[in-house]
Amino acid sequence: MNTSTSSTASLPGGAWVTGDQTITRFGYGAMQLAGPWVMGQPEDRDGALAVLREAAELGITHIDTSVAYGPRVTNELIREALHPYPESLFIATKVGAERDAQGGWPTARRPEDLRQQVRETLESLGSEVLDLVNMRMGDAQGPQPGSIAEAFETLAGLQQEGLIRHLGVSNVTSEQVAEARTIAPVVCVQNMYNLAHRRDDDLIDRLAAQDIAYVPFFPLGGFTPLQSETLSRVAGRLGTTPMSVALAWLLQRSPNILLIPGTSSRAHLRENVTGAGLSLSEEDVAELDTIGH
Ligand SMILES: NC(=O)c1ccc[n+]([C@@H]2O[C@H](COP(=O)([O-])OP(=O)(O)OC[C@H]3O[C@@H](n4cnc5c(N)ncnc54)[C@H](OP(=O)(O)O)[C@@H]3O)[C@@H](O)[C@H]2O)c1
Repeated sequence: MNTSTSSTASLPGGAWVTGDQTITRFGYGAMQLAGPWVMGQPEDRDGALAVLREAAELGITHIDTSVAYGPRVTNELIREALHPYPESLFIATKVGAERDAQGGWPTARRPEDLRQQVRETLESLGSEVLDLVNMRMGDAQGPQPGSIAEAFETLAGLQQEGLIRHLGVSNVTSEQVAEARTIAPVVCVQNMYNLAHRRDDDLIDRLAAQDIAYVPFFPLGGFTPLQSETLSRVAGRLGTTPMSVALAWLLQRSPNILLIPGTSSRAHLRENVTGAGLSLSEEDVAELDTIGH
């Protein structure tokens, strides 16, 4: 896998090749399309469908989702907006958690749980094969130590059955990435990372050397938007927004970083695409690097 300049490269960051497919480095995270706290239907269902269609029209070919969002709601919106899916579209999903009545995210990683989640993902997306399934570990506090073997072997089995094309891991430690790679090829790692949370700096560099994608979740801070005087100062100097600077910084940070910023607004989506194309100078980057260190 590597970066390339194919026809999918008109979005900021160009393209990334994952196995047999070229996808845009600028992707879209669909989690925030469900209702409040990622439960139930969105207030503005037509608006949510319009955001997905706009993402496709802008040329975005990487959408991140999970059957746990809603649950099922986000996948069903994607299906309604974009099915039948063009061959160029790469839909990344994840398994490892369920939703409870209070909106919590209890872990569900027994082999039978994972097989059920993959079945429900296929059904809700209306797909016969999933492009990518991330095995999500850890908890809301982040990655936790422990073996990923049983869970990842279950997904590797489903891959061999032809239900999944590519496998990834999410919310994981470096040790879990290494352990998963002894079981089956890992094409991406999806962990929390942004200007202010840089625990994975070393991991990102190691993955880049191995041509493995790194997909930061909460690139804009997630439920707590990134706030930093330094970020606002750099954005003000460049005449742009902190969100734009945060996305551009990620694209410049390493060629294996793929963006999946979330938004339920078409205006924000367009703003993010434009903003991520900002070119940061070495001085800007040095100043921004003080935030997370
Ligand atoms: N693997 C995991 O464990 C995990 C965990 C969490 C998330 N994820 C994935 O990561 C993706 C990204 O995470 P996220 O969406 O939670 O967080 P995010 O991308 O860091 O931030 C999304 C938030 O930023 C706001 N926003 C976006 N663009 C904006 C703009 N231009 N101006 C002002 N506000 C803007 C959005 O509000 P508006 O809707 O108002 O634009 C939304 O509240 C998710 O969609 C999901 O697919 C994975």
